[in-house]
Amino acid sequence: MNTIALVGAQWGDEGKGKVIDILASSADYVVRATGGSNAGHTVVCGENVYKLHLIPSGILYPNTVNIIGNGVVVDPKVLLEEMASLKAQGVEFGKNLIIDVRAHVVLPYHKTLDELAEKAKGKDAIGTTKRGIGPCYADKSDRIGIRMIDFIDPDTFAQKLKSNLALKNKIITAVYGGEPLDYNAVLDEYNGYAKQLAKFCCDTGAVLYDAIKADKRVIFEGAQGALLDLDSGTYPFVTSSHPITGGFCAGAGVGPTAIKECLGIAKAYTTRVGAGPFPTELNDEVGDHLLNVGHEFGTTTGRARRCGWLDAVILRLAVRINGLTSLAINKLDTLTGIKKLKIATHYMRDGQRVDNFPADISLLERCVPVYEEFDGWTEDISSVRSYDELPQNAKKYIDAVERLCECKVSMIGVGADRDQNIYRDR
Ligand code: GDP
Ligand code: IMO
Ligand code: MG
Repeated sequence: MNTIALVGAQWGDEGKGKVIDILASSADYVVRATGGSNAGHTVVCGENVYKLHLIPSGILYPNTVNIIGNGVVVDPKVLLEEMASLKAQGVEFGKNLIIDVRAHVVLPYHKTLDELAEKAKGKDAIGTTKRGIGPCYADKSDRIGIRMIDFIDPDTFAQKLKSNLALKNKIITAVYGGEPLDYNAVLDEYNGYAKQLAKFCCDTGAVLYDAIKADKRVIFEGAQGALLDLDSGTYPFVTSSHPITGGFCAGAGVGPTAIKECLGIAKAYTTRVGAGPFPTELNDEVGDHLLNVGHEFGTTTGRARRCGWLDAVILRLAVRINGLTSLAINKLDTLTGIKKLKIATHYMRDGQRVDNFPADISLLERCVPVYEEFDGWTEDISSVRSYDELPQNAKKYIDAVERLCECKVSMIGVGADRDQNIYRDR
């Protein structure tokens, strides 16, 4: 079997887009199974920079089929805008993109409610991307969601939109004091999108099943990351889906035996956007170095990312809940020039050693990371292409990651470009 899942091992933005694009050069299928346009995946090919939100990162290869699976929540407007901007960059759309008929549709009331709910939470806001993700998944669980199959049928869409909007407008106005949305305006606008997207819709689970049986090369593309998982992440400061390998099965419509390898993507340090606990966060000049040298600004919202030391406690969680077979460590180049580097090995709380990531946010806030310290390096590593050529201290750092996370590091990123990687096990 020729299948691999690529999954974020931290709080998202680990450089998944880059690694998926690299592996997609020899893939037949790339499948997105979770999340929606909250994702922002960057692919850099020389002068060309592509920002992908809903479209899988295999789209830059004309012979790769890109699947938006049933577990994704699809914002038709954002999808069509993304297609238009990729077309302007020379990408053609034909048989290379398919969307599952069971995928749920993000509608304007989801985005309005996301925004209003965040505002109402005040200082307890999650810091969502305001892309309507939570409200859309809530409707899915509540069994009132509108799926692509409903959306592309004008009669079904008109009827479902009518009853949903009647309910949502009551919540928008009576609960939040917001402005109601106009049924006819939403219907007209979204019917236009449905017409354009209908030809891409099919039962992608069946396509994928046949592809895997035929031994095609398939990549499952993770969005977000393990610590944003609805169950295992820093709840409630998480996203509303399961961006982990188990979630890929439900969201792509395949069983767990369909995934052969699980590659976790992490940065050589840690970042997070939005609110919520972050034990190794740095609010000092090292944090500034990571932000500025690492250009840590969100791909989707442009927000500055919070930065901190690498945390082996969260990576061990990611190894466990994803069943990782190896790790890719990106942005090692960003650490160049930092004199002393640190990796959190475990936490201490009220005099007790904590090795496993705690479920209780208030306990987590009292955890103090315990660090192992490493000497840094000053050599420019951005053109290094083999592990042996890395400075001794960089190798020691990577060896420590393997030891502390109990997972081998198969790939190291030393720059944003597709070519700037070290492979240890291809
Ligand atoms: P994703 O959401 O996991 O796909 O990650 P993002 O694209 O949101 O953020 C990762 C950022 O790091 C992007 O700007 C990438 O171009 C960049 N990047 C990825 N790998 C490397 C690397 O090894 N070194 C450097 N300097 N940048 C990288
Ligand atoms: P990629 O795929 C980083 C975060 C948001 C917020 C929380 C909930 O690019 O790694 P949501 O809009 O999903 O309800 O927001 O999750 N978040 C991400 N952070 N990278 C992402 O995606 C993210 N997608 C959601 O910032 O804290
Ligand atoms: Mg991102």
